[in-house]
Amino acid sequence: MNDRVKIFDTTLRDGEQSPGCSMNLREKLDVARRLELLKVDVIEAGFAASSPGDFEAVKAVADRIRGCTVASLARCNRVDIDAAFEAIRNAADPRIHVFLATSPVHMQYKLRMTQEQVLEAIAEMVKYAKSKCSNIEFSAEDAMRSEPEFLAKAVEAAINAGANVVNIPDTVGYATPSEMREMIEYLRNTVPGCNDIELSVHCHNDLGMATANSLAGVLGGARQVECTINGIGERAGNASLEEVVMAINTRKELYGVSTNIDTTKIYKTSMLVYNIIGRTAPMNKPIVGTNAFAHEAGIHQHGVLANRSTYEIMTPESVGIKVNQMVLGKHSGKHAFEARLIELGFELSPEELESCFAEFKKLSDKKKEISDSDLEALARNRTPADKEEGFVLERFTVQAGNMTSATSVVVLKKNGELFEDVALGDGPVDAAFKAVDKIMVPPEHSFETYSTHSVSEGKDTLGEVVVTLRKSDRLFVGKGLSTDTIEASILAYIAALNKLIKFSQPVLN
Ligand code: KIV
Ligand code: ZN
Repeated sequence: MNDRVKIFDTTLRDGEQSPGCSMNLREKLDVARRLELLKVDVIEAGFAASSPGDFEAVKAVADRIRGCTVASLARCNRVDIDAAFEAIRNAADPRIHVFLATSPVHMQYKLRMTQEQVLEAIAEMVKYAKSKCSNIEFSAEDAMRSEPEFLAKAVEAAINAGANVVNIPDTVGYATPSEMREMIEYLRNTVPGCNDIELSVHCHNDLGMATANSLAGVLGGARQVECTINGIGERAGNASLEEVVMAINTRKELYGVSTNIDTTKIYKTSMLVYNIIGRTAPMNKPIVGTNAFAHEAGIHQHGVLANRSTYEIMTPESVGIKVNQMVLGKHSGKHAFEARLIELGFELSPEELESCFAEFKKLSDKKKEISDSDLEALARNRTPADKEEGFVLERFTVQAGNMTSATSVVVLKKNGELFEDVALGDGPVDAAFKAVDKIMVPPEHSFETYSTHSVSEGKDTLGEVVVTLRKSDRLFVGKGLSTDTIEASILAYIAALNKLIKFSQPVLN
């Protein structure tokens, strides 16, 4: 049997559609480029029919990414399949991913379809998709709660209609590893043609078993694993790419398979995605958490110093965690700057490059050593070419101390006009935020989170602040970057408020 497992990344679809993980077009393209550098086999870029924004994003990814298959999700109907194909048709290797549920509970209550109708729809729609595109994946939604005999018929119908890949999702994270392995083995042993196509697994993490179930699927014979960076996804998330790939790598003798992933790109990809969704890795997150390779306990330190393999089953270097190198400085030119950003996976438009380079020059006046982490932070926070409208920070002052209330004067600019206000607050950040509120007058919302972290080492490091605001079930994330934490905070707050205000404006026809 083929010993190569394909990695199908659905960060931009299953990941992005979950609450608090939405990304704008530019962020999706940054992630897609990074996934290409990581060498995933398939990027599921979105669900083209779900909204014009999704269509545009899937198309933008398909038009630009050359090193991977690009897929769009589609329900089992012609409108969705047409939209998916239109969005991906220019991809180097386009794939339409059609899905329909096969479990009794989904068929009865969601689809209101009989088993016969479901089999007919699969046959008809997979055939229709195949008439447009040679690369078709079919997913039997909620497969792991489906009757195995019926699931086998659904898989057979999809294969006969031309599916190249059939995916067996554990949609609600209900399965256990032994069940997953047995289901894949059962399908391979019963469905005619099953060994001539690729079987795939797609596991959710509701019971914390998504990685284990995906690996069990591989042991059963699945040769595609669907996963997301950092395991983001619906509810408790999807199987996390970094865990699945590093388990396959670290336990080669057990799994007997390999992936094409460049594991040294894992850490940076993970950090990019965390940054975009405004979070940081939980401390104990496998592979990428701050403590994943930290050896605190004396007895562990002693062992690791004597021989790393005592407590280390993989090296931090193998996933790309290394001490920052000093790469550029005050005298570096624009070409060197751009070349390094490209190596790091960023492709900037000429306008973005111009403004980002100006920020780099300002930073190099304040900071002698500019590391990859600084460069990445500058690129992630670059001013978009299609600059989002709203307020921008012109200047601010704060006066604060431990014996006096903090006062802040903030001046913002919008459409060329300056707005100034002053406020007292409980500390300099609070005072500045209150002054911003007086100018921007945001609609009602709750202040969800405020976090700050340093981008690299040293006292002169850039600080990155992330502010999250909530209005009913929508989250608005704003980020700010500066060597001055108060400035980074104000920038982050303004960015989040601009999004909130834009979202709350009535749509005019
Ligand atoms: O979890 C699921 O079943 C899915 C399918 C659409 C593949 O995401
Ligand atoms: Zn899913």
